[in-house]
Amino acid sequence: MATKSEICEPGTENSMVKTLEWTDEGVRFIDQRKLPTEETYVTCTTYEEVADAIRTMVVRGAPAIGVAAAMGIALGARNADAGHVSELRRAFDQICEAMGETRPTAVNLFWAIRRMQQKFEACSELPVDQIRQALITEAQRMYVEDIAANEAMGRHGATLMPASGGVLTHCNAGALATCGYGTALGVIRAAVEAGKKIQVYADETRPFLQGSRLTAWELMKDGIPTTVISDNMAGAMMKQGKIGAVVVGADRIAANGDVANKIGTYTVAVLAKEHGIPFYVAAPFSTVDLETPDGSKIPIEQRSTREVTHIAGKAIAPEGVKVENPAFDVTPAKYVGAIITERGVARAPYEQSLRRLAETVAAAD
Ligand code: MRU
Repeated sequence: MATKSEICEPGTENSMVKTLEWTDEGVRFIDQRKLPTEETYVTCTTYEEVADAIRTMVVRGAPAIGVAAAMGIALGARNADAGHVSELRRAFDQICEAMGETRPTAVNLFWAIRRMQQKFEACSELPVDQIRQALITEAQRMYVEDIAANEAMGRHGATLMPASGGVLTHCNAGALATCGYGTALGVIRAAVEAGKKIQVYADETRPFLQGSRLTAWELMKDGIPTTVISDNMAGAMMKQGKIGAVVVGADRIAANGDVANKIGTYTVAVLAKEHGIPFYVAAPFSTVDLETPDGSKIPIEQRSTREVTHIAGKAIAPEGVKVENPAFDVTPAKYVGAIITERGVARAPYEQSLRRLAETVAAAD
């Protein structure tokens, strides 16, 4: 993995960050583990390196993981030593399997793998080099579609944001979690672009600190007023009347509207309900998993306990203490005021509204 570093100064640059991109050398990522102090880019030149980048959180956030996997598959197919379609298919299957083992909760990963598999099938009569090129083109198309979906979500969701005041978000569902613009942060960006005077409250999001490190970093770059709070301050901020709405992203939305998202989201949703504050989820339709009936069936990734016991390599808990580190939790649908997608806004009962959105577009396709 080739690395290029530059020290960044938050708040000085106003251009949209390039979370990931396809290049002739391979797939290039901003290394999110190093933010906010260092803007470092890594280029993965093999599919194994892309899989590793997903597993180790160089790239993270459900939509970004999906497109990264698609680009990793295209890269692996491009590099595969295959003279015949049968050889390319063997290599391709192995690459898809490796990608599928990186992170279990974000369904966008499996959606992206399936889409690449469908593309392979659709092209399987073509010569090997044309199949390779078709896979690269498909991954690049997914990149462009993701940004367009986020902009559409922004248009649908901006009207739900208050005209002024605080909006709380958890984790990072911004440009860094997608190919650009963001889902939850896309909604906030669109509201700000429409003239709403929003003050973002960013939960720091223990243990990986996506809120304080990433959300604050990218919103400051855009000049959107942002206040970082530790996760345990959210209830107090709500009680003081500082929060008018909550908007978060999602890693998987079950058919009944239950939402898997970063650990701590459930707590925020319960707090929001207690204080009569609307709680919204913004996600592309690739995050909706109609094959999973409810949240209890969503696999929850368990990550290294070291993420909890250490910060920047320094121990913050006694050695040997028992620790749990589920990376996600499930917010029951009853707490979700609306699900904002690029296809429109779904409201309870979600079994019907999500299926209706799925069918409307399927019919239009
Ligand atoms: O573990 P992460 O950082 O990949 O988790 C990210 C989240 O939980 C996001 O909120 C979610 O993926 C939506 S991103 C648009």
